[in-house]
Amino acid sequence: MNLQTKKLLHGGDYNPEQWLKYPEVIEQDFKLLKEANVNTITVGMFAWSTLEPKEGEFQFAWLDDIFRRAEEAGMNIILGTPSGARPQWLAETYPEVLRTNANREKMLFGGRHNHCFTSPDYIEKVQTINQKLAERYGQHPNLLMWHLSNEYSGECHCDLCQTAFRQWLQAKYQTLDAINDAYWNTFWSHNYSSWEQIQSPSPRGEMGVHTLNLDWRRFVTDQTIRFYQLEKEAILPYSSHLPFTANFMADTDDLIPFQSLNYEAFAKVVDVLSWDCYPAWHNDWETEVDLAVKVGFINDLYRSLKQQSFLIMESTPSLVNWHKVNKTKRPKFHLLSSIQFLAHGSDSVLYFQIRKSKGSFEKFHGAIIDHDSSPDNRVFQEIKQVGHALGELSDIQQTMPYSKVAILYDWENDWAMHDAQAFSKDNLKYHETLHKHYRYFWDKDISVDVVTPKTLVKDYQLIIVPMLYMMTDELVDYLHDFASKGGKVVFTYLTGLVNESDLVYSGGIHPKLSDMLGLKLQETDTLYPSQSNTVRYKDQSFTAKDFCSVVELTTARALADYTSDFYSGKPAITENQLGQGTVYYLATRLDHDLLTDFYADLISDNALSNNLVQSSTKNVSVQVRNDTTHHYVFVMNFANEAQVIELNQPMFNLVTKEMVGPRIDLTGFEGMVLKAPLTQ
Ligand code: GLA
Ligand code: ZN
Repeated sequence: MNLQTKKLLHGGDYNPEQWLKYPEVIEQDFKLLKEANVNTITVGMFAWSTLEPKEGEFQFAWLDDIFRRAEEAGMNIILGTPSGARPQWLAETYPEVLRTNANREKMLFGGRHNHCFTSPDYIEKVQTINQKLAERYGQHPNLLMWHLSNEYSGECHCDLCQTAFRQWLQAKYQTLDAINDAYWNTFWSHNYSSWEQIQSPSPRGEMGVHTLNLDWRRFVTDQTIRFYQLEKEAILPYSSHLPFTANFMADTDDLIPFQSLNYEAFAKVVDVLSWDCYPAWHNDWETEVDLAVKVGFINDLYRSLKQQSFLIMESTPSLVNWHKVNKTKRPKFHLLSSIQFLAHGSDSVLYFQIRKSKGSFEKFHGAIIDHDSSPDNRVFQEIKQVGHALGELSDIQQTMPYSKVAILYDWENDWAMHDAQAFSKDNLKYHETLHKHYRYFWDKDISVDVVTPKTLVKDYQLIIVPMLYMMTDELVDYLHDFASKGGKVVFTYLTGLVNESDLVYSGGIHPKLSDMLGLKLQETDTLYPSQSNTVRYKDQSFTAKDFCSVVELTTARALADYTSDFYSGKPAITENQLGQGTVYYLATRLDHDLLTDFYADLISDNALSNNLVQSSTKNVSVQVRNDTTHHYVFVMNFANEAQVIELNQPMFNLVTKEMVGPRIDLTGFEGMVLKAPLTQ
């Protein structure tokens, strides 16, 4: 990551434009930020109406003042462009900038992110303000990075966007014949006879042509990336020495990868990957450990998209205002959850927001500075402590975990599988399944890269491919090659059914995948949620749920069988030798115990362990980042009670500056960062 600082970043989103009538507040903010050990502020997002109150009339004096204050305080500035929300005058003068929804209703002014990403008027206005900002601040010594817009998201279905979509399709397919074939358009007499007939998916029109839905999502991703590039183009001539980022997101309280855009593609164009992470800690449906697994998973995914350390651009020091219940972090938990970000590859702990606003939508969202404007509250003190810890941890900047295991996730597969009119509506559980496989390794303190088909580039020893319904020839070839050369690959039910156009492979499964697995897929039995089968593995019985694929072996051998229903005695887990490697197939959804036994047998040679912990402790996660000389060992107790772990050697605690271990007594919710010489 090419940031011109050796420090880990601590700070976050700052909106001084809300306080220009209260200069004493801004004065006080900088004092408090210093006290909170803040070294970075992100400004400019959502400030358009203050920067350009009337078309062509720019006001920069207030932002000059913030840059001056940051310079005096020795703070970095991340400068955000304001395209995430526009001034009233802009929407009034150029109505095309507002969005049209999928029902073809034109949106009124309001909210944010309410813009057409194709509109030439909007692009021109955004480029103008961006250029002005870049001319003025692009060479400022305290400017660290550009932050384009805010959480790019959403789509527009206006006429401009329809035309752009048709052009995108024309470039992809060239002929109507080709698109009709790819969409299987003879079905329900949907063949196009002219390009103009093509419409984006709409609840008032077409929602059931799976490949159209996929192409629309691909187009939305490309059009968003195009918009990002156009924003950047206006800044680059004035600030080409600095990195650019766009803050990514996750969906839902379960932190599943953001669904509206394919970040695999978007990650390629950002210089630094940054994202906004808001776990619903201390909720009433899962333990902190359960949630920590999900936080680990998504951070491992976002890190692996660029195979470099990343930034947490936003998080909360306490609570948010948009969860179902907005609960604050328990004492000590802020340090622990911050250490977790670092453990999985972040070089920052940044927050939304620096100061709570006085009015409107986010006035009760957690912040560094509360409405009391005081350092004398628990949250401020814990932030200060995190800031202090980050100051002691600069050694970890740009270091990376070294993972020998990869779990494969794919955005397009996610879209296609959830769109497929098949299987089980409520029980597909793609994300739960990914988390379940990941959890085995989390429990064992084994580092994992969560990769996508196009980021699967490193040398791994084990690649796990759960529920990859959509599989391309390239991916099958890659995995075939990987296994032949000695790798282990684990596939599951519902894998390899369709190609990238969502057309089913003749034979029911990709033919080369069938060869790799050494079996033929006969059928898949989808069970109701309360139903189950049993599987016999090494003389023990385990429960199988939801999906039971029935297979006929060619070269594979069975490791486990079903014990009931019409496929009783048929293989439920198989193993196939392929060249130097081994390919496994889990034909059914295994319960936790069987999955644990299966993986324990698979990696019994211990080759994947980090060899830094004697034995893993339940509820305690150990993650490791390395540079060429040292391991940085993150020990995190996600239980609210004491735990003991045994390291294999004493290590140096980077924050307290003392040697600790090999036995470490952790208090509830305690986290620490240790350093040890490299052993492998
Ligand atoms: C997002 C946005 C911020 C803010 C926070 C609140 O991450 O980028 O502007 O609204 O959510 O959690
Ligand atoms: Zn549009």
